[in-house]
Amino acid sequence: MSALPFEAYGGLSDAECQERIVRARARLGREVVLLCHHYQRADIYQHADLTGDSLKLARLAAQTDAPFIVFCGVHFMAEVADILSRPEQTAILPDLAAGCSMADMANLASVERCWRELGAIMDVEATFTPVTYINSAADLKAFCGEHGGIVCTSSNASVISGWAFAQRPKILFFPDQHLGRWTGHQRGIPLEETPVWDPDLPLGGLTPEAIAQAKILLWKGHCAVHQMFRKSQIDAFRAQYPDALVIAHPECDFEVCRAADHVGSTEMIVRIVKEAPANTRWLVGTELNLVERLAKEVAPQKKEVRFMSNIICMCSTMQRIDPQHLAWTLENLSAGTIVNPIVVPAHEAGLARAALDRMLRVS
Ligand code: 13P
Ligand code: SF4
Repeated sequence: MSALPFEAYGGLSDAECQERIVRARARLGREVVLLCHHYQRADIYQHADLTGDSLKLARLAAQTDAPFIVFCGVHFMAEVADILSRPEQTAILPDLAAGCSMADMANLASVERCWRELGAIMDVEATFTPVTYINSAADLKAFCGEHGGIVCTSSNASVISGWAFAQRPKILFFPDQHLGRWTGHQRGIPLEETPVWDPDLPLGGLTPEAIAQAKILLWKGHCAVHQMFRKSQIDAFRAQYPDALVIAHPECDFEVCRAADHVGSTEMIVRIVKEAPANTRWLVGTELNLVERLAKEVAPQKKEVRFMSNIICMCSTMQRIDPQHLAWTLENLSAGTIVNPIVVPAHEAGLARAALDRMLRVS
């Protein structure tokens, strides 16, 4: 059967789409499971069967029995769901434009070039464990699988780096320099030993001596959303409310993480604030949808949750999953047509799975 075109949905009101989503889900029953990242907008999040950070969602994708996994998140998350689910299951991303700009800051060609350049000055396979943040394309996870490396997430980067150092003396960490730097700091590695590799420059813009001295080579990548948070915002908040607590995602700048009381994944941020005593005041450095939802949820316990930035910074790609795309996806599915399946090629998926399985075993 041919797919219902998206054009027929683009002009529908949000309210009409909500009704259609509910009806299509009722028709599909246990055929479909909706996995939802914490950054999803409220009008999508309300339909979630299961929610979580990247690690939790990866585990859930591996455990679900539903034939169709509709992933309300970004592209790399749906790829992980495809890789970890069984072959007869299908991962679906309601809008293929829902990517991750940080994940796009490293690609296979530039990582392979880096590996070759390192290989020209040392025995790279014996010296570096490649570690990719889960916010990366499947071919980079496959690269790590092939070269004795591993995947990490924001919630397990410290323990994963311990595993990586047990394999080889140095780590090549991509694509988020901030998570890599914070992870190194947690392990007591001085900043001078975590230089940044710039993929646009020969030898990453570093000298062979700097590379020999490095413990972690950080890829020059970042999340634009989390760069909006500044230490000055923390200082101003603390000056106004000396008893305030600060919590930040490790994709934030090093100075922000250092000034925070807690640093952790989205799941950890939600848990810590929910479990905090009543009458506490929080400044939260992560994406706005999560912060607004959390603020509403803990308000009855007289907890006050504030967003760390004065300007609105949302993850624009997470926002791509809207009621129109979800209604389109589910109505097609209930009519027997799969739109936007995410299928990682078998060879790549096998290697990426090796790196993901290592992560799931270690963490
Ligand atoms: P979490 O794994 O902490 O949910 O982070 C994913 C992400 O993309 C944060 O920007
Ligand atoms: Fe990627 Fe940043 Fe969006 Fe997370 S918030 S999905 S790292 S662009």
